[in-house]
Amino acid sequence: MNHISPILCVVGARPNFMKMAAILPALTDPACGLAVRLVHTGQHYDEQMNDAFFRQLGMPRPDDNLGVGSGSHAQQTAAIMTRFEKVVDEHRPRAILVVGDVNSTIACALVAAKKGVAVIHVEAGLRSYDRAMPEEINRVLTDQISDFLFTTERHAADNLHAEGIARQRVHFVGNVMIDTLHRLLPQAPTPQEVLAKALPSSDDAASLTAGGYGLVTMHRPSNVDDPEVLERLLRCLGEISAEIPLLFPVHPRTRARIFGDGRDNSSRESGLAALLSKTGQRLIALPPLGYLEMLGLMSKATLVLTDSGGIQEETTSLGVACITMRENTERPITVTEGTNTIVGSDPEAIRREATAILGGGGKSGRIPELWDGRAAERIAAVLRTHFGSA
Ligand code: UD1
Repeated sequence: MNHISPILCVVGARPNFMKMAAILPALTDPACGLAVRLVHTGQHYDEQMNDAFFRQLGMPRPDDNLGVGSGSHAQQTAAIMTRFEKVVDEHRPRAILVVGDVNSTIACALVAAKKGVAVIHVEAGLRSYDRAMPEEINRVLTDQISDFLFTTERHAADNLHAEGIARQRVHFVGNVMIDTLHRLLPQAPTPQEVLAKALPSSDDAASLTAGGYGLVTMHRPSNVDDPEVLERLLRCLGEISAEIPLLFPVHPRTRARIFGDGRDNSSRESGLAALLSKTGQRLIALPPLGYLEMLGLMSKATLVLTDSGGIQEETTSLGVACITMRENTERPITVTEGTNTIVGSDPEAIRREATAILGGGGKSGRIPELWDGRAAERIAAVLRTHFGSA
């Protein structure tokens, strides 16, 4: 991948990897023939958050790893910018391509835009209209300085137009994350296989979930950073687990809030850990899972409870009922067409919706337009026209 004047493709955090896994092969396919260079900012670095994903997704080793690691938003963003600037200076790319809404997305877009390098944003135009979410700020700012904006749903173009972004820069192509889901779903392990690997010492986890299970993910600062909110949610999940066992792969941010991160073992954190073990064998904490393991569990779940963005889309594609524990979504098509219901973080509302789904009242939904596994091809076709002969 060491061609002159490549397109620098940037990944940083877990939700970026499955998107880039679809885009890279499409750009480097002989039919498109663009030179690319993969840059990893190192925002996520754990084996479980990072390396396992690269392996399962069949991603090449990054050409550059900026190794920024964790930090406050300002520290992380600044470190990415400083290090990414050197990569841009060295390789003089004809464009950079960023995906999604994480800190790496805005940091690299900002560096490129100020150097007069074209910015390509995949998954543009999504808006929660909630500026308390760091991702919303990243989305709005990245779109403002992008030259090519690729969208996953038609409505996103209206959001962009309302912010003064010319329609010619916007291309509705579908959802690259769903490209990867289509490709890898046949390789996903069964729930029993996932549990046997994730909980080797527990022999009854598989039998416990044989009659159906729910899947939980939770890591948004608004749900996990305030101990009172987190405690309310854990109690609520404990109650739902009396109706159906819940599998809960715990994100490092959430794990640190529940169990402490080794530095701060406050009584509040110990209390949450006790709460989790008391709600017992039916709210089952797992380590963060690989992509295939998540797909395996998600595709066979009776319901999913989440505050993730990507999982709202994956459940819609899989036709699995999803309860989103947030006040809003930047992905409204998962609600209007898909299987998603937004309930906020009020335990009563979450319990009510879970009971309705378990009683057979879940949405069946339909597949949104262009979520057909070919979004990356459409992106490659647009980019080839603009950058193919340079
Ligand atoms: C980031 C993204 C979020 C995305 C999420 C998926 C931003 C603003 N947020 O949030 O949009 O949904 O990733 O995971 O970019 N940590 C580890 N190991 C790792 C990475 C992180 O232990 O490999 C811990 C660190 O202690 C860190 C915490 O998790 O403090 C949070 O990580 P960070 O990347 O800052 O944000 P996320 O909450 O993961």
